[in-house]
Amino acid sequence: MIPYEDLKRLNKPFKEEFTAAFDEVLEKGYFILGPQVELFEKEFAGFHSSKYCVGISNGLDAIILALKALNLPEGSEVIVPSNTYIATILAVIAANLKPVLVEPDIRTYNIDPDKIEAAITPKTKALLIVHLYGKVCDMDKIMPIKQKHNLFLVEDCAQAHGATYKNKLAGTFGEMGAFSFYPTKNLGALGDAGGVICNDEQYKNALMRLRNYGSDRKYYNDVIGYNNRLDEMQAAFLSVKLKRLKEMNAHRNKLAALYHKNLSDKYILPVNDSNYYDVFHIFNIRHQKRDELQQYLQKKEIGTVIHYPVPPHRQKAMADIFKGKDYPIADEIHNTTLSIPCSFCHTENEIMEVIDALNNY
Ligand SMILES: Cc1ncc(COP(=O)(O)O)c(C=O)c1O
Repeated sequence: MIPYEDLKRLNKPFKEEFTAAFDEVLEKGYFILGPQVELFEKEFAGFHSSKYCVGISNGLDAIILALKALNLPEGSEVIVPSNTYIATILAVIAANLKPVLVEPDIRTYNIDPDKIEAAITPKTKALLIVHLYGKVCDMDKIMPIKQKHNLFLVEDCAQAHGATYKNKLAGTFGEMGAFSFYPTKNLGALGDAGGVICNDEQYKNALMRLRNYGSDRKYYNDVIGYNNRLDEMQAAFLSVKLKRLKEMNAHRNKLAALYHKNLSDKYILPVNDSNYYDVFHIFNIRHQKRDELQQYLQKKEIGTVIHYPVPPHRQKAMADIFKGKDYPIADEIHNTTLSIPCSFCHTENEIMEVIDALNNY
């Protein structure tokens, strides 16, 4: 069996260091907002050459707090890609803002910059872009739109740790970059975890307050806040893995290159462009008979996942919000996409087996 992902295998090389990190946290006896969170924040900010990182409980909360830190008027419109994972849209709603969906570019699966301006109204205050599957959005086109319309830019980097566009890292283009460290992510903790990077002290302070009951000083609460803290144990594990993030991304790139080189042209593959360093959080292919293909691979004992079977506008929870709106490109992607194994846990031999199975289909 070649699993789609195997977190046990993926984390095995880190076991000794995790154990040492666990012991250290236990010895220190600090479990919430202590030295490990501070250290990881410093390291993750440093990785991005950003001034600040604020550790947050998970990726969804990271986006919610980033939006809240912008202090936008209630009901302001926020532009989001129509094919994103539901969390991006849930974050906008949780921040009392209005999500406005813009269709992706069918080649890159990222928000289509040429469609953004048509969605901008006087109520639009922010762009919440998503570097989906591990590819940075087309920033040369998006930044001028941000500037022209005076919009805030928040980047959902949950799938793009270490990805770059023209050598600039995901998360460093806008006011804030929000990350998830969910266990399957390119930088994954051993539980829920997230973080936001930024360069502006005002946002850093707002994020620190919001994640900790609205408090700067214990028992003094200046704003309405939440409990959205990253915990010490997860921060310690993340510091261990951050040291090898580049190596893990390079491994995924090596596997992706095998697919690109060897897969039959009956499949639509992710686009390759030398301006981008993609980190292949997801390596997806597209095929008109996707469901049959998935069953065929299942019979060959190859695990696959559909990211995602139901687009956000067709989710029951969103029925009222997007009623009467059509997003045919999101539909097309959701109907034809299939994610195939491409993780730090996979060997090149396994990927060659997947390729053989796909080419014989
Ligand atoms: C694009 C995107 N945004 C946000 C999230 C939310 O992250 P989390 O699961 O850590 O809340 C995820 C991952 O699940 C994601 O893939």
